Amino acid sequence: MTKIDPNTLANIDDVTTEHLHLDLKVDFEKQRLIGSVLLTLKTLTEQVQEVVLDTNHLIINGVYDGEDSEKSLQYKFDEEDSKFGRALHITLPGSLSANQIVKVLVKYETTKECGALQWLEPSQTVGKKHPYLFTQCEAIHARSLVPCQDSPGVKITYSANIDTPAPLRALMSALRINEEPEIVGDSRIYKFEQKTTMPSYLIALVVGELEGREIGPRSTVWSEPAMIEKCAWEFVDTEEFIKTGEELLTPYEWGRYDLLVLPASFPYGGMENPCLTFVTPTLLAGDRSLVDVVAHEIAHSWMGNLVTTKSWENFWLNEGWTMFIERKIIGRMHGEPTRQFSAQMGVKALEADIDFFGQKDPLTCLCPRLRGVDPDDAFSSVPYEKGFNLLYYLEQHLGGASVFEPYMKAYVQHFAGKALCTQEWKDFLYAYMEKTHGQEKVDLLNQVDWNGWLHTPGMPPVENKFDQSLTHACTHLAKKWDEHREVPFEASPKDIENFTADQKVFFLEKVLETKPLPHNAIEAMDKAYTLTKVQNAEIRFKWQMVCLKTEYQPIYPEVAKFVVEQGRMKYTRPLYRALYKCPSGSQLARDTFIKNKSFYHPICSRLVEKDLGLVN
Ligand SMILES: *[C@@H]1O[C@H](CO)[C@@H](O)[C@H](O)[C@H]1NC(C)=O
Ligand SMILES: *[C@@H]1O[C@H](CO)[C@@H](O)[C@H](O)[C@H]1NC(C)=O
Ligand SMILES: [Zn+2]
Repeated sequence: MTKIDPNTLANIDDVTTEHLHLDLKVDFEKQRLIGSVLLTLKTLTEQVQEVVLDTNHLIINGVYDGEDSEKSLQYKFDEEDSKFGRALHITLPGSLSANQIVKVLVKYETTKECGALQWLEPSQTVGKKHPYLFTQCEAIHARSLVPCQDSPGVKITYSANIDTPAPLRALMSALRINEEPEIVGDSRIYKFEQKTTMPSYLIALVVGELEGREIGPRSTVWSEPAMIEKCAWEFVDTEEFIKTGEELLTPYEWGRYDLLVLPASFPYGGMENPCLTFVTPTLLAGDRSLVDVVAHEIAHSWMGNLVTTKSWENFWLNEGWTMFIERKIIGRMHGEPTRQFSAQMGVKALEADIDFFGQKDPLTCLCPRLRGVDPDDAFSSVPYEKGFNLLYYLEQHLGGASVFEPYMKAYVQHFAGKALCTQEWKDFLYAYMEKTHGQEKVDLLNQVDWNGWLHTPGMPPVENKFDQSLTHACTHLAKKWDEHREVPFEASPKDIENFTADQKVFFLEKVLETKPLPHNAIEAMDKAYTLTKVQNAEIRFKWQMVCLKTEYQPIYPEVAKFVVEQGRMKYTRPLYRALYKCPSGSQLARDTFIKNKSFYHPICSRLVEKDLGLVN
């Protein structure tokens, strides 16, 4: 039998983890976490003699019977795999039959090589006074935070005691048990509990000088004190997003929905850690124009966190569904044309990534094969946007929202608390449509080009049609620039005075699609629309890409500034790549990266290094 998850070394078919309890001390001096994990395991088959855990760059200080911590258990490591880490084999006390519970205590500490952890010096924070630590476990980094069965299909509850130096605070992807630290001897302990089952990649910890501000009945936003007012203002719509999600799906399961705004090196837009979404400070546009990312992370409360992919090969079940629900939420709150507009932005992102990987690259399949592949290397907008387009196509094909929205709800109810693969998703879709609507819908499903959608590289087999009411003006203006590329027209600020921030991005996206503009056109565009000075990160990013495409050197210092101000991979990687591609910019790209390497998160740093040809 081939393993359902090719990216774990754990024996998840023999044993599963039910609960995980962490006891960790945060040691900023040595930049390590030290303590133990108590794993509650359940056997799935007969005669189970060992549990195999995933680890990566962890030091094991001893393994004990969880019921009797005097009694040590034998353990050994396999050889290290450069992508997946080292399997830790632990001999269980006696040979166990199926459905037995056994507890194992592993004493361990983390090292500087652990990719889940980013330790920031005080100078890398806004406040400059205290160090800061945050984790990022998705996709397969939980194994460098804690020895565990690091597979998304293994759904666990967890609890934790985190010993934190004064005056810092710890927060986790779980409910807070105590607001003030419990003092035990020299320790200051923050306690947490996550009672809803979730995959290991959602374990998350942050330690720093953190302040909280209430922004809704179940929501607090957390950040360094200097940014807290700005954060509270920007994310004021949070409760409305949650309520809209509840209307579309099922009651919100996790109790709290808090937000944490991280330091600038956070590599993603957001990370849907349960009870505490992590977001990048690049969302702080000062005009609430980038908060759709929060709608996205809230949608994960159902899609991904509650209903979870069994393996990274089916990642689209998390991200495609989340895009679909994010856009449903946006559509409900701001109208259908806004949803349609966002979908078209998504198609642009999909085209760009398929172009980057190559039309025939198997990683552009909706269900890619990831045997021997680090999921971080496969990351792209494909699972997000091809996944969204499949669901959007099915919605239209099966009869619209009146058919699809009840199905969406039934899907969440059916798979809540579970993990699934694409085949199970498809089986349920067929079963639901047959039971609720009869053979007519089954016939429609049989017409779907499943192989084209799921297992073929490149753009989707069907091109969805979207409403153009919000894109029309953008497309029209981009065309005008294209047609007048040699002989400039009277461009004026009025051209874009009524554009939303998203429309400006879409306009620049369309400009990017045309042949590189001559430098005098770039100058005229900047003069009319003052794009170089814009602070909105999305617009700034797209404008710099437009300039780099035509090797417009006056933009280089701006690019070098932007890529060291923040480390969000969505901006940082394409900008470095585009600057590197300019013959006159290659050296600057490499120099800037090398000088600022320690600023970036380990995931980002590793990928940019590859992009710039600094490693193979
Ligand atoms: C922008 O909107 C205002 C108010 O609706 C309108 O008067 C103006 O003509 C619009 N500008 C453009 C360029 O369409
Ligand atoms: C990036 O490198 C430059 C040049 O060494 C330095 O002045 C700057 O402080 C660095 N920025 C960060 C964020 O580390
Ligand atoms: Zn997501």
